[in-house]
Amino acid sequence: MKPFVYITRKVPDEIYARLAKVYKVEMWPEEDKAVPREILLEKASVANALLTVISDQIDEELFSCASNLKVVANMAVGFDNIDLEKASRFGVAVCNTPEVLTDTTADLTFALLLATARRMTEASEFVKDGKWTSWAPMMLVGTDVHHKKIGIVGMGKIGTAVAKRAAGFDMEILYHNRRRHEVAEEMLGAQYREFDELLEEADFVVCLAPLNDDTRGMFQRKHFQKMKKEAIFINASRGPIINEQALLDALEAGEIAAAGLDVFDQEPISKNHPFLAMKNVVALPHIGSASKETRLAMMTMCCDNIDAVFEERPPRTLVNKDVLQF
Ligand code: DGY
Repeated sequence: MKPFVYITRKVPDEIYARLAKVYKVEMWPEEDKAVPREILLEKASVANALLTVISDQIDEELFSCASNLKVVANMAVGFDNIDLEKASRFGVAVCNTPEVLTDTTADLTFALLLATARRMTEASEFVKDGKWTSWAPMMLVGTDVHHKKIGIVGMGKIGTAVAKRAAGFDMEILYHNRRRHEVAEEMLGAQYREFDELLEEADFVVCLAPLNDDTRGMFQRKHFQKMKKEAIFINASRGPIINEQALLDALEAGEIAAAGLDVFDQEPISKNHPFLAMKNVVALPHIGSASKETRLAMMTMCCDNIDAVFEERPPRTLVNKDVLQF
């Protein structure tokens, strides 16, 4: 009997075909609609492997009904949608897709910073709405990025890749991280700061920390109040790291200048969300890793990890190393 792999979102034909050569495969056929919870649970109850995306909640309820499940290959570097402790308890390997998306996500993060600082989405709407009637010295002026201070919160692989891009813009690089990053300090001149010091000094505060129990709600109103009034806040990590209401209040009160957000508390964000009415907010639909090359590399890595499990080898990017399968 071939192992049964359930894919929770429509993937390109080549990825489906690769899996279908070896496994019995089923896939949720829709691209723009998440698999309903009851279907996910029903499929998980008979699946040997799940290929998941970040909006799928892989929790105790699911593991309890998935007695044949051996591996969850999550198509993301983040795995905050998966209860790791329960996965290990139920003997299920959890894998993610690090590294292949580092540069792509760093490109998007830096693009978001530039777009927010230079008001690019607002300017594009201005042109498309036919409002560009003359050239004026102070029309749509933004703020410079080059030679400013960037403060990176979360100096992992993506944080370091963003720092490299910042160095190319002659920025001074500050960072806050659980551990000192000697390589970034040596190679890029990055300077470690305590969290509050970074908030006070940086012109651009860029959140790239992973979501976990330590970082959930890390940015509250008092943290935005510590930032400069001209500061720009960028979040390309996970929405729940910030208190969204606190960010809204800080923007409304003019405590910071603008925000560039690729991630939100609730995704997709509701079309009535107050952020969407604010000119100084650039909002993107969680597209950090969304280049064709990188998305294919992420899916390929998921397939490699699934293969490893059924060939009884530890997957290359196993997250819950305490799982007893191997
Ligand atoms: C990740 O990989 O964690 C991203 O947020 C999803 O593209």
